[in-house]
Amino acid sequence: MFLPATRDSIARAAVRLRQGGVVAFPTETVYGLGALAFDARAVARIFEIKGRPSFDPLIVHVADRSMLQEVVAAVPPAGETLMERFWPGPLTLILAKRPAVPGLVTAGLSTVAVRMSDHPVARALLEAVGSPLAAPSANPFGRLSPTRAEHVARMLGDRVDLILDGGATMHGIESTIVALEPRPVLLRPGAIPVEQIEASIGPLERATRGSAVRAPGQLAQHYAPATPLRLIDPRLVPDSERRRAGVVTLRDAYDGYSASRILSRRGDLREAAADLFEVLHALDALGLERIDAAPVGESGLGLAIMDRLRRAASR
Ligand code: TXA
Ligand code: MG
Repeated sequence: MFLPATRDSIARAAVRLRQGGVVAFPTETVYGLGALAFDARAVARIFEIKGRPSFDPLIVHVADRSMLQEVVAAVPPAGETLMERFWPGPLTLILAKRPAVPGLVTAGLSTVAVRMSDHPVARALLEAVGSPLAAPSANPFGRLSPTRAEHVARMLGDRVDLILDGGATMHGIESTIVALEPRPVLLRPGAIPVEQIEASIGPLERATRGSAVRAPGQLAQHYAPATPLRLIDPRLVPDSERRRAGVVTLRDAYDGYSASRILSRRGDLREAAADLFEVLHALDALGLERIDAAPVGESGLGLAIMDRLRRAASR
């Protein structure tokens, strides 16, 4: 069922969730697929609907500090600093979990990923439910994250009990994930530029593919459209290869492609990040042979954009 997010539909969604249902809802980053974090059977349905390997832990969404205390055992000083500055907002923190958090939520880890969304619908839903929600992005495993309710409907359709439609999401790219112990590590670049986090707690180690500490779900092949995508400077692509392909660029236009999308005419990375998945969903629906994506500079949100493009390309 697909309903515009209103006071009534949010109340209805809360009832479904309390009964063990699975509800898709908007956040400021991408749409989430939520279930009661303390109900392992409901959480199992999330994995089932997403076709997600169960070793991949979920983010737990909380409305306030008292809900946070239900799931995390302790918050180190750097965590306090980051929450003070960035919550509610698109920052996910990895913290020591309380024993009551089901192992299925954390894939057996002793830590839990937590975030406090600033989206009015996500907040209203959490408040109505009165309990933390485990909610990964509302896409099938390995596919593009949804930035509109229609994307969720197209990809997951009637497998979900209810989809709350809150329009297009603001950031369009997932939250930044930071682990704090034993030392601060950037696990996933995201909607909050890493530079802003470092300005508040100092340098972050970067989790790389080989490093010990990383987000288990950060498989190389993630966030991929069904159409093959490659990361390439379009100037190097001959006309013959452009005809049945699409191109996505930050601000430059290229002739000869069957479809062309510009992320931000002003070259604004915030605008580009917000439109990235939307544009990839749209290109993916055209039945192209290939999508060429032009690399962007890796400062600010460019880091998160390039992270998603590399993963989309490694399919
Ligand atoms: O913006 C977002 O964060 C969206 C919205 C819906 O909140 N959610 C989202 O969730 O992107 P998901 O499940 O698609 O990505 C969560 C990432 C995964 O890569 C997972 O492996 C990592 O967080 N993660 C979760 N718990 C973790 C933990 N305890 N330690 C390390 N990484 C963890
Ligand atoms: Mg995801």
